[in-house]
Amino acid sequence: MEKVVLITGCSSGIGLATALYLADKGFQVVATMRNVSKRSELDAALQKKYFSVEVLELDVTKKDTISAALKQVKQKYGRLDAIVNNAGITIDAFFEDHSDADVRKLFEVNFFGVLELTRQALPLMRQRKSGRIVTIGSIAGQYALPQVSIYSAIKFALEGWSEALRFEVAPFGVCVSIIEPCFVQTNLGSNNRSVGEFSSSPSSAYYSFNKIMDDFYESYDEKYSKPPEAVARLVYKALSQKKPKIRYMLGRRETFFYLCKRLLPQKLYERIYNRVFPSLKLDEH
Ligand SMILES: NC(=O)c1ccc[n+]([C@@H]2O[C@H](COP(=O)([O-])OP(=O)(O)OC[C@H]3O[C@@H](n4cnc5c(N)ncnc54)[C@H](OP(=O)(O)O)[C@@H]3O)[C@@H](O)[C@H]2O)c1
Repeated sequence: MEKVVLITGCSSGIGLATALYLADKGFQVVATMRNVSKRSELDAALQKKYFSVEVLELDVTKKDTISAALKQVKQKYGRLDAIVNNAGITIDAFFEDHSDADVRKLFEVNFFGVLELTRQALPLMRQRKSGRIVTIGSIAGQYALPQVSIYSAIKFALEGWSEALRFEVAPFGVCVSIIEPCFVQTNLGSNNRSVGEFSSSPSSAYYSFNKIMDDFYESYDEKYSKPPEAVARLVYKALSQKKPKIRYMLGRRETFFYLCKRLLPQKLYERIYNRVFPSLKLDEH
């Protein structure tokens, strides 16, 4: 029987591309989305394909939608071979411009959502002594940049969680991997991006820095971003390799920078950082 994989956040971007890619590779894909009325892009793409995918509702912040989706998977297929924790949002802001509500919302979707689905899916995998848990992290979970401190904090947290979980569930035949994309051409910078509650206020101490970072990220995105299919290929590797790695990185420049951070003394790393990333200076008046 085909392997059954459940993916979150399949209405657009990486989730959508991964659903199509894995179905093409022979997986039975359960493409979940928080709002199934947003399935039109997936349906349109499927019209040109010879395979189908199952669409189910799942909001990672609502435990009952997670259990309902898993129940349907169990009833229909009798197994769950893998989950892909993909759903995510971003709220960009310098730390002081974030309200407490912003921070909690980001954690609810990007961190606690991952934990909840994994918590509910693991028993199905442990019973069969086999399974894969793949989480879409980010290069922002390896080195942090201004204006995304909370997003980075969450992606760093997912790194530590994935590393530990990998050891914890290995005895049950379950493998854990995390994918570290660089910039990817998706809706994350548009539909699923908002800014911090106080970012747009001219009274913010960081008001002028926002434009500097926005311009930097925009031009970086234009030059170096990758299509979502590049991430889908890495997810497929993590699901199909006999001995999957803990980390799959995407982006040559980002991998180089990651290695600099890991291997060089912090002082030298910061010198390179200051050459590559914009400097934030206060106006002298
Ligand atoms: N794009 C990048 O540059 C980049 C880089 C590194 C890592 N990532 C990571 O990649 C993942 C996917 O993002 P993307 O770039 O593909 O962005 P995207 O196109 O905006 O897709 C995000 C998906 O998450 C869904 N979602 C949001 N909140 C949800 C919730 N509470 N429950 C279930 N689904 C929810 C969205 O659904 P709606 O359509 O209903 O909003 C959408 O389907 C995220 O974890 C992100 O952090 C992205």
